[in-house]
Amino acid sequence: MAAAEIRVAINSDQDIVGARQKGRALAIQLGFAGSDPTVIAAAISEVARNIVNHAKQGEIVLSGVHEGDLHGIQVIAADQGPGISDIERAMQYGYSSSKGMGVGLPGAKWLMDEFDIQSQIGKGTRVTMRKWVH
Ligand SMILES: Nc1ncnc2c1ncn2[C@@H]1O[C@H](COP(=O)(O)OP(=O)(O)OP(=O)(O)O)[C@@H](O)[C@H]1O
Ligand SMILES: [Mg+2]
Repeated sequence: MAAAEIRVAINSDQDIVGARQKGRALAIQLGFAGSDPTVIAAAISEVARNIVNHAKQGEIVLSGVHEGDLHGIQVIAADQGPGISDIERAMQYGYSSSKGMGVGLPGAKWLMDEFDIQSQIGKGTRVTMRKWVH
């Protein structure tokens, strides 16, 4: 059985790679097949990279999730960084406050089935994403 919860501290580029690999492995354990494990790993990579680039440190929490007849994977990316002042703008394709391409958040949302972002200035940011096994 899959572990209840996998927590990955995110402080560096190497941690992004680790979170990506753990997410991919958990996705396979949970029954994702085909391109799905890679798609999930890509979404994890984006939110983990945002932690490193915009908040310096934080964590990724991976778990299996059930809702009615659905089962899948949940990915939480949480940090206590500067927060996001305008979430609607941050979610726009092509918007970046730095030198990024501004595709990380909209890309991650598109790759997953459910996407929620909560952020408070000075307190941090929490992205919760889910994808269901089909
Ligand atoms: N964890 C975070 N903490 C603070 N700000 C964030 C965080 N994640 C995203 N943001 C803000 O939202 C903006 C959009 O994020 P997004 O990932 O889409 O683009 P990017 O990181 O700037 O560039 P890319 O992901 O294409 O390299 C960022 O430029 C940044 O201002
Ligand atoms: Mg990004």
